[in-house]
Amino acid sequence: MDLLDSIGGLSVDEFMHRHWQRAPLLARGAFPGFVSPIEPARLFELAASDDVESRTVQSSDGRWSLAHGPFDRLPPRRRAGWTLLVQGVDLHDDAVAALMARFRFVPDARVDDLMISFATDGGGVGPHVDQYDVFLLQARGTRRWRIAPPGDASLVPGVPLKLLANFQPTEEWLLEPGDMLYLPPGWGHDGTAVGECMTFSIGFRAPSRREFLSAFLAAAADEPGGPDPRFSDRGRAPTATPGRLPDDLADRLHGWARDWRPSAAQVDRFIGCWLTEPKPQVWFETPAPLAAARLERAAAREGLRLDRRTRMAWRGATVYVNGEAHDAPVAARRWLRRLADRRLLAAAECPRAFAAPGVAAMLGAWHDAGWLRIGAVPAASSP
Ligand code: SIN
Ligand code: CO
Repeated sequence: MDLLDSIGGLSVDEFMHRHWQRAPLLARGAFPGFVSPIEPARLFELAASDDVESRTVQSSDGRWSLAHGPFDRLPPRRRAGWTLLVQGVDLHDDAVAALMARFRFVPDARVDDLMISFATDGGGVGPHVDQYDVFLLQARGTRRWRIAPPGDASLVPGVPLKLLANFQPTEEWLLEPGDMLYLPPGWGHDGTAVGECMTFSIGFRAPSRREFLSAFLAAAADEPGGPDPRFSDRGRAPTATPGRLPDDLADRLHGWARDWRPSAAQVDRFIGCWLTEPKPQVWFETPAPLAAARLERAAAREGLRLDRRTRMAWRGATVYVNGEAHDAPVAARRWLRRLADRRLLAAAECPRAFAAPGVAAMLGAWHDAGWLRIGAVPAASSP
């Protein structure tokens, strides 16, 4: 499926230049004649599964309740005012993953997931802000969106959701199937179902400094090997003030903190591994392992594609796949980069790709791990 070529009458270039991270955009008919690739019944099925993150929100008379899935039973469809939210539907459905791929004019490393909400009349999660860029695509039925520029972030006390206490909407629209609203981070928004409806949120993550440092420092501390000096106070004189923190101990720890410098290579490696790490609930279905020659023959016949759950990126000489770093010889880079950029290798490309040094072994391991699939397009019934 191709990238979106325009958004709300703007080219994607213009959209990125004028709106991305800057200003909301309502795109009427962004997907003309849009038909949801997924039915509510399938969403309810996903919400019952324990490897899918889901929640329900209900409100009546200003009282809000929140519950986390998996859900064996959901409120009756005829009851007004409830919403089911299912995260990461792109990980479970190839058609939804293909829809999300239309937004690959933004680098994969910025992608979070595609969440789908189902709501009965009047349902919604209340006025809130997200830290993420989001495209809110109306998939079925009608939803009223009200939005407000970043401002007073105070929250309603005593409710299980982060609801804006002083939401002052400045614009309001009714979205029909195929309409889409882009919101940069920090904009207040409140969507209310007008009759039963389904909304897709295509969400983009952006790490904060704290998130990055906390993950990086934890990983650096766990890294095996290398010297690990230990404080020693051989020859210390007896103390009369045992409660006092010893200066030599404090100075030594200060020095370790001040002098610790990760190498550029260490940081680079971590960045790629971290940004391609699948979410914790992701697991891959592993196929029967295939001998190298058989995989090569099948690839030459049918091509190869990344499993929809695989996260892959490249930078410099390194390719990153699902949290692993692989240094690629020069002749291999072209093929691995192509696989990361297009998420597939066509049948006609595979013989040359397999002939490049190191590629056959990497593709073989990824195939056996369930990260790479045979066939350049998913079969209708693929898991
Ligand atoms: C919804 O679909 O109800 C909520 C989506 C959002 O506000 O991010
Ligand atoms: Co939101």
